[in-house]
Amino acid sequence: MAETIGKILFTEEQIRRRAEELGAEITKDYEGRELICVGTLNGAVMWMCELIKHINLDVRLDFLSAHSYGGGTVSTGVITVTKDLEFDIQGKDVLIIEDIIDSGNTLYYLKHHFFPEKQPRSVKICTMLDKPARREADITADYTGFTVDDLFIVGFGLDYDQRYRALPYISYLEG
Ligand code: IMP
Ligand code: MG
Repeated sequence: MAETIGKILFTEEQIRRRAEELGAEITKDYEGRELICVGTLNGAVMWMCELIKHINLDVRLDFLSAHSYGGGTVSTGVITVTKDLEFDIQGKDVLIIEDIIDSGNTLYYLKHHFFPEKQPRSVKICTMLDKPARREADITADYTGFTVDDLFIVGFGLDYDQRYRALPYISYLEG
């Protein structure tokens, strides 16, 4: 492994502040309602922890594992769900909490196939990062932390072959 980590794109403090802003927005949008926050494992975990602290609602947490990457940096476009939800979400408001939207294939599948089958009242998406440069599927998040250039991002939950997830900031692979 010869890869190196580039400059810091977003510091822990910047991420916290953005989570605070989005949390306040989400609180307002769902006022008086219950919300089931579904984090996508493993990448969205750090962002989810940060965000939910700032959502002042009756929140419940669930997790989902969906994969489109076989390792490395290129999407395969084939989505498999390896860990399903624990809750019955029928009639509930669901917020998918995602780490990054790249090709958009994963979220497209979740939003248009996986979730509708479970008949929730609503499904929205909150992503920490949006990387629009390589979008293949027609999907946009309802809440976006930051937009990034066409880089391979690591840190704050995001990995390269399962490494670098624990970095407390957002950076990218160089070279
Ligand atoms: P998509 O289906 O191509 O939108 O990608 C979905 C998943 O691929 C994300 O939830 C990430 O786990 C992973 N991914 C996409 N881009 C990056 C990146 O730049 N760094 C690390 N993981 C990424
Ligand atoms: Mg990943």
